[in-house]
Amino acid sequence: MSNFRDRKIHRVVILTGAGISAESGLATFRDSDGLWEHHDPMEIATPEAFSRDPALVFRFYNARRRQLVETLPNTAHKALAQLQMSFPGEVYLVTQNVDDLHERGGSKQVCHMHGELRSALCTSCRAVLGFEEDMSADTTCSACGAHGTLRPDIVWFGEMPYHMDEIGRYIQTCDLFIAIGTSGAVYPAAGFVGEASLAGAMTVEVNKETSKVSRSFDEQRQGIATVEVPALVEELLAG
Ligand code: APR
Repeated sequence: MSNFRDRKIHRVVILTGAGISAESGLATFRDSDGLWEHHDPMEIATPEAFSRDPALVFRFYNARRRQLVETLPNTAHKALAQLQMSFPGEVYLVTQNVDDLHERGGSKQVCHMHGELRSALCTSCRAVLGFEEDMSADTTCSACGAHGTLRPDIVWFGEMPYHMDEIGRYIQTCDLFIAIGTSGAVYPAAGFVGEASLAGAMTVEVNKETSKVSRSFDEQRQGIATVEVPALVEELLAG
């Protein structure tokens, strides 16, 4: 248990978005020059897009997977890992990001509600497989041997995010909810702050600018993640 703003904090839930990986060099979606400025999400990130033009979708995610090789976690990822290790209470990390920078920054528990670049989903046997190289319609599933049934293990628009029951249980029982680097443009993640508030949690937003849901937070910390997150973690650990 720790104190934060004179409140006893037993359980913290942290939601991250693309903004926490921006300073590692990964493009966000909706900032200027973001991914959705160069690609129409409806042409890339939907099941219909995949059945319409699988090669285009494979190319998009293969390029993002390849980029991970030369990308490093930043001090914000590492500060969250430190918090998970040293906080005298529970810290549950849920991310909308499909990169592996939280894990490479030292986090042992990471809930990827939108899936992961470094895994593949077999549409035949539903196995989720670790996947590092380029994926195509010619790839074979190492679990069931089916050919051409693998797709990126990414939750696309119109699909149900992963682990929603678990995430809901944590949000309903947390004392502090922190959102870092997310625009609040996409539900259900954008609704987590309202659920946390209703459950009586204190809510803090870290973002370099105002998001679509900033008004829903008790506290906004405006600034870049590599400055604001280590400072917030230091405060929490000092509590
Ligand atoms: N520090 C803090 N915040 C930052 C930084 C930074 N260095 N850089 C960008 N941000 C903030 C932006 O101000 C913005 O609010 O991060 C947010 C990024 O927003 P989006 O690009 O919309 O990314 P995200 O919120 O993660 O998108 C949610 O949308 O397209 C889907 O599935 C995709 O998971 C993604 C979801």
